[in-house]
Amino acid sequence: MAGREKEGADIHAEELDTLRGGEVSLRPPREEDVETVYEWDRDPELAAWNGRAPVSVSLEAARRDYLLRWEDPGVKTFIIEAEGRPVGLATLYDFRGGGCELGIKIGPEELRGRGYATEAVRLLVDYAFQRLGLRVVRGSTLAHNRRMRRVFEKCGFERVGEGSILSRYDNRRYAEVFYERRRH
Ligand SMILES: CC(C)(COP(=O)(O)OP(=O)(O)OC[C@H]1O[C@@H](n2cnc3c(N)ncnc32)[C@H](O)[C@@H]1OP(=O)(O)O)[C@@H](O)C(=O)NCCC(=O)NCCS
Repeated sequence: MAGREKEGADIHAEELDTLRGGEVSLRPPREEDVETVYEWDRDPELAAWNGRAPVSVSLEAARRDYLLRWEDPGVKTFIIEAEGRPVGLATLYDFRGGGCELGIKIGPEELRGRGYATEAVRLLVDYAFQRLGLRVVRGSTLAHNRRMRRVFEKCGFERVGEGSILSRYDNRRYAEVFYERRRH
C-alpha cells in the first residue's frame, strides 16, 4: 500500500511539473529515459553544437551521473516529448540574480526544424516567469548555430553580447552569442 501511495505521489508530482503545449510537452526525466539521453550525448554532431566532447563513459557510469543530475534541485531537466515519444532535452540551470540559463537540444536529426524547440522554449520561459517567479532567462549559442539563434529570436530573446568559447569538441575557439529574455 505504502508503495502504491508513493507511486501515486510520484505521478502527481510529475503531472504538476509537466508543461503542455500544442505539439510538445515537457516532463521530468525518468530512469527509462537514460538510454535515449545517453545515445544523444554520444552523438558527435550534437556534441559539436554544444561545444562538448561526445560522452565516452559507459552507459552505467552515465546512468549514475544522469540520475544524480536529474535529482539535483539546482538543475531543472525536462524531456521534450512530441509524436508520442521523447524527442529532446531541455534544462534550466545556473539560477542566480533572479534568473537562470536555458539549454536545449532536439535529439533525432529528422525531428529538427519542425518547430519543437520554439514551442519548448516558450513553455520554459512561461514556466520560469510564472511558476518560478524569475525575471530573466539567459541563453547562449555558437554564433554559427543559425537554428538556435532563430529559436531565441522567435521566442522574444534579445541579443545582449558576444564572446568566444573554447570548444571541447575539437579544441578550437568559436564565436558565441548571448541572449536574454526579460519578464516585462
Ligand atoms: C537548435 C535546435 C535546438 C533548434 O530546434 P528545432 O526544433 O530544430 O527549431 P525550430 O524548428 O523550432 O526552429 C528552427 C528555426 O531555424 C530556422 N533554420 C533552420 N536552419 C536554418 C539555417 N541554416 N539558417 C537560418 N535559420 C535556419 C528554421 O527555419 C526555423 O525558423 P522559422 O520557424 O522561422 O522557419 C535543434 O535544431 C538542435 O537540437 N540542434 C542540434 C543541437 C543544438 O544546436 N542545440 C543548441 C545548442 S546551444
